[in-house]
Amino acid sequence: MTAPMARRVNRVFDNVDLGPTATSARSALIIAPGDDVRTDPFLLMGEELVNQPGFDWHPHRGMETVTLVLGGALEHGDSMGNAGVLGPGDVQWMTAGRGVVHREVAARAEHARVIQLWLNLPSARKLVPTGYQDLRAGRHAVHTEAGVLVQVISGETGAARGPAVNQWPVLGVVITLDPKAEYRQVLDGGDRAFAYVIAGGLTIGGRPVRAGQIAWTDPVSGQGDPTTLSLVAADVDEQAKVLLFAGRPIGESVVAHGPFVMNTPAEIVEAYRDFHSGGFGGVPRHTRSPAGT
Ligand code: CO
Repeated sequence: MTAPMARRVNRVFDNVDLGPTATSARSALIIAPGDDVRTDPFLLMGEELVNQPGFDWHPHRGMETVTLVLGGALEHGDSMGNAGVLGPGDVQWMTAGRGVVHREVAARAEHARVIQLWLNLPSARKLVPTGYQDLRAGRHAVHTEAGVLVQVISGETGAARGPAVNQWPVLGVVITLDPKAEYRQVLDGGDRAFAYVIAGGLTIGGRPVRAGQIAWTDPVSGQGDPTTLSLVAADVDEQAKVLLFAGRPIGESVVAHGPFVMNTPAEIVEAYRDFHSGGFGGVPRHTRSPAGT
């Protein structure tokens, strides 16, 4: 029996501080869009200190958004009639599919600190029915080892299986490590993975990575081969916290325009036409922002 192949880290990037924007008191780009060859199946990711009015009503098609609330409270509503407030540790998994109109705004005049990841969908699933999953903090599956807590949002780790229903299989976990603790995340050899450091510092796949940095590891072998990514927390007076996602590259052309992510320019034109003719549904009256238009 041979040990699973150890992954190495191919790239480490700092997040890019965009400063205050119209929607956020502070915005940072973690995965820049348009680099699909090196990020597939992931499209973009940002960390935001969402303000009011925040991200007011806007559409999406052909992709999914995964929003992790780190602090504060995030109020949301969508054209399916979902509405609510998410708190620290909660995750919103929104499948835009054929089309949704939604809003995301800081609740109760506070700021909401969130990380939002955009996941691509394969061409055969871009127009699936729109879906929405509230994955509450207390409901994540949990895997523990000495000094290590793994909260499983999506996919499987050890015996823990996350609650998210996937359109394209992805592993999504939040890993908290005590100082000097070590953890080996099992990854499918055919998957691309990233680890974004939310707090603290670690050595990931042999490379030092600190808060605000993302480490990427590309597919190394065929689908189904187990590999491992080693994470070792630094010897400091602080826990390390990491958001890790892994998924098989989709390998299709990506044509993105604003909130629509399709395979061809003609499909983008079609998305705008369907949206403007009301095909995504309307803004529900009962979730309309008092200050909204
Ligand atoms: Co959105």
